[in-house]
Amino acid sequence: MTDELHGETEQFWEGHYRGQGRVWSGRANPVLVDVAGSLRPRTALDLGCGEGGDAVWLAQQGWRVTAVDVSATALDRAATLAAEAGVRIDFQQHDLARTFPEGAFDLVSAQYLHSPVEFPRDRVLRMAARAVASSGLLLIVGHASAAPWSWNHKPHTRFPTPEEVLAALDLSPWQWRTERLGTPERLGTGPNGESATVTDNVVAVRRLVRRWPD
Ligand SMILES: C[S@@+](CC[C@H](N)C(=O)[O-])C[C@H]1O[C@@H](n2cnc3c(N)ncnc32)[C@H](O)[C@@H]1O
Repeated sequence: MTDELHGETEQFWEGHYRGQGRVWSGRANPVLVDVAGSLRPRTALDLGCGEGGDAVWLAQQGWRVTAVDVSATALDRAATLAAEAGVRIDFQQHDLARTFPEGAFDLVSAQYLHSPVEFPRDRVLRMAARAVASSGLLLIVGHASAAPWSWNHKPHTRFPTPEEVLAALDLSPWQWRTERLGTPERLGTGPNGESATVTDNVVAVRRLVRRWPD
């Protein structure tokens, strides 16, 4: 696992986290709370877990969580958050462009899994779909617009629409049902307390229960 980590991706994200104190709020992302809050907790995979706000929240709801990031510093902070919250999480370090956690999960969550360094996002999200257990859910939340304080805030940045994300997953309609496809707005808060309305792209697809022929 760790020996496969190399290259710009790890350098960029390690630099991002090491260069400052805690980056994110530690709170779970609102769409995840909205979607997973009504699900029966089973096994969950958090891809690009960062400092662990979502993973800890899921574990507190009773999910058995595996959480993955490329940055060792982010994972250390996430493990500290989990210890403070008194929950156990299986943290794994992967560059998802190279290696992917083993197993099948009832919930696979990718929250703002964007990267300014080269990242085969569509391919990784297709692997995420393959990791969804029978009748499980894949939830992808991404930016549709970047907050003014974000490193993503460049005039020409274009984020894929939910429809484009869904199309790139290339899922069979016989095996998957789309449960959410939309662009909700939320009020985001920046590192200095500033706020702005930002738009998210949300895709939630459920793998249908496998039916064997009689
Ligand atoms: C924008 S942050 C989102 C963090 C978290 N999901 C959240 O919503 O707060 C993207 C995260 O994905 C991770 N990441 C980016 N590229 C990755 C890769 N190739 N493999 C694993 N993690 C990656 C980064 O280290 C970072 O923690």
